[in-house]
Amino acid sequence: MRTVQLAPSILTADFSRLAEEVRAAEEGGADLLHLDVMDGRFVPNITFGHALVEALRKVTSLPFDIHLMVAEPERQVGFYTEAAKTVNVHVEATDHINRVLDSIRKGGAEAGVCLNPGTPLAAIEESLGEVDQVMVMTINPGWGGQKLIPAQLEKVSRLRTLLDEGGHAARIEVDGGVKVENAATCAAAGADVLVCGSSVYNDRSSVAENLASLRAALAKGS
Ligand code: DX5
Ligand code: ZN
Repeated sequence: MRTVQLAPSILTADFSRLAEEVRAAEEGGADLLHLDVMDGRFVPNITFGHALVEALRKVTSLPFDIHLMVAEPERQVGFYTEAAKTVNVHVEATDHINRVLDSIRKGGAEAGVCLNPGTPLAAIEESLGEVDQVMVMTINPGWGGQKLIPAQLEKVSRLRTLLDEGGHAARIEVDGGVKVENAATCAAAGADVLVCGSSVYNDRSSVAENLASLRAALAKGS
């Protein structure tokens, strides 16, 4: 089975000591840091913008996986390409997805495209040659701590086949409701990267313990 990367999302971290929380993910062996930018338009919630992303760039060497839940991402991608490994934009948020993906790559970052649960794979089929990553949302975006929608894993499997048969190298990222109980199922469906928010940042165990539990579940395959 492929090596699966873990990308903790800071959405449920303690924002009053964010630098410490981010370092805990790095020390706990995270592969990436997932940063959820919400603008109050594409989703009702507002989180943070590029100023915070740039501040965090100074406290960790983890690669940044930036998830832009913003309307008209074409107006914003330029703020994030320098700090990011990957900038992910929603296909539902723009009329010109290929142009946005191209401008992310021209800015020097990898380009990712995201699909809401209600969006069919057909919406991105024409972009598969232009992306480094496809993010399948397994919740409706806007908040952390929601339950994974199992039917979306079937979409992940179909996407895996589409990418493999088409000879596309794009990674598949699964975002929303990933937990110890379902991490291996997500990997088996074809995920390369798992976003883990509340399963990493919670009151039950430390960030390092939670990351270790997720790795153990993946290694065990169940
Ligand atoms: C929600 C965000 C997710 C969220 C995941 O819109 O895109 O990245 O932080 O959190 P969990 O893992 O708790 O579902
Ligand atoms: Zn996200």
